[in-house]
Amino acid sequence: MVRQDIERIGVVGAGTMGSGIAQVAATRGYDVVMRDIEPEYVENGFDTIEDSLERLERKDALEESADTIRDRITGTTALNDLSDADLVVEAAIEDMAVKQDIFQGLEAHCGTDVILATNTSTLSITSIAAPLEHPVRVVGLHFMNPVPIMEGVEIVVGEKTTEEVTELAHNIAEDLGKTTWESDDKPGFVTNRILMPWLNEGIRAYDEGVASKEDIDAGMELGTNVPMGPLTLADHIGLDVCLHASQTMYEELGDRYKPAYLLKRKVEAGDLGKKTGRGFYDYE
Ligand SMILES: NC(=O)c1ccc[n+]([C@@H]2O[C@H](COP(=O)([O-])OP(=O)(O)OC[C@H]3O[C@@H](n4cnc5c(N)ncnc54)[C@H](O)[C@@H]3O)[C@@H](O)[C@H]2O)c1
Repeated sequence: MVRQDIERIGVVGAGTMGSGIAQVAATRGYDVVMRDIEPEYVENGFDTIEDSLERLERKDALEESADTIRDRITGTTALNDLSDADLVVEAAIEDMAVKQDIFQGLEAHCGTDVILATNTSTLSITSIAAPLEHPVRVVGLHFMNPVPIMEGVEIVVGEKTTEEVTELAHNIAEDLGKTTWESDDKPGFVTNRILMPWLNEGIRAYDEGVASKEDIDAGMELGTNVPMGPLTLADHIGLDVCLHASQTMYEELGDRYKPAYLLKRKVEAGDLGKKTGRGFYDYE
């Protein structure tokens, strides 16, 4: 049996995704404890949340004041501060060893009935859960970026994940105002398995001189009705994130996931997209 009565949500990682998940959970009335490894990373997470809440408040898009919502979130660097969480969502860096270490730490601190969810984009839920004594409560809760804006959450079912845990994962995501779909624990799940080859092909088309970057994006936006072309979208996601995801799937699924040469070159040059001010486009 897993804990059904969720009041307090633990979030591991206060970066782009962790801060977004903490914000959405607090907005829906949950108490949240957000953990990162250094106090300055926790502070950065709060800065992101406060900026986002202020923007939403100005647009009249909040039912409570930004301060009330913000005050539901506590920051910490100690993993054992998550010991009284009724559900934990991990959104630390995309690294199997780091995630396995976090989940083993969570298993030591949290009750055996507490669902331990991961926001991984591409890593195997089954592998993350493999070292645990109770892997049945590990599930993928794959939020999209930016979390407060994007409606979809992909529920990823590992080899050991029980139906009860899967169902609760759907319910929690829906309670956070999201709409869910389900994927088996196959590399890239539904979204990145299909998205990453598309992004890489857009980058290759640009590198091989098929068209200008503006025309590649316009062609896909106007010609296929997607809201953002591949080069703009890759810049928004972060080119390092795209490279890492492509590399993971290339290792698991072979050549059709090979990262584009220009994607690797951009990441090596430190041009990671919007977050560094330059990717395929300039943002400064
Ligand atoms: N950025 C996206 O578009 C996106 C979308 C969906 C899913 N994801 C996934 O979400 C996760 C987080 O991605 P992100 O973009 O927020 O990354 P990020 O780099 O913005 O944040 C990661 C945070 O994790 C922290 N961290 C590292 N080790 C930790 C530990 N042991 N305990 C606690 N915190 C730790 C880092 O200090 C950092 O603040 C990854 O698994 C990523 O694949 C990202």
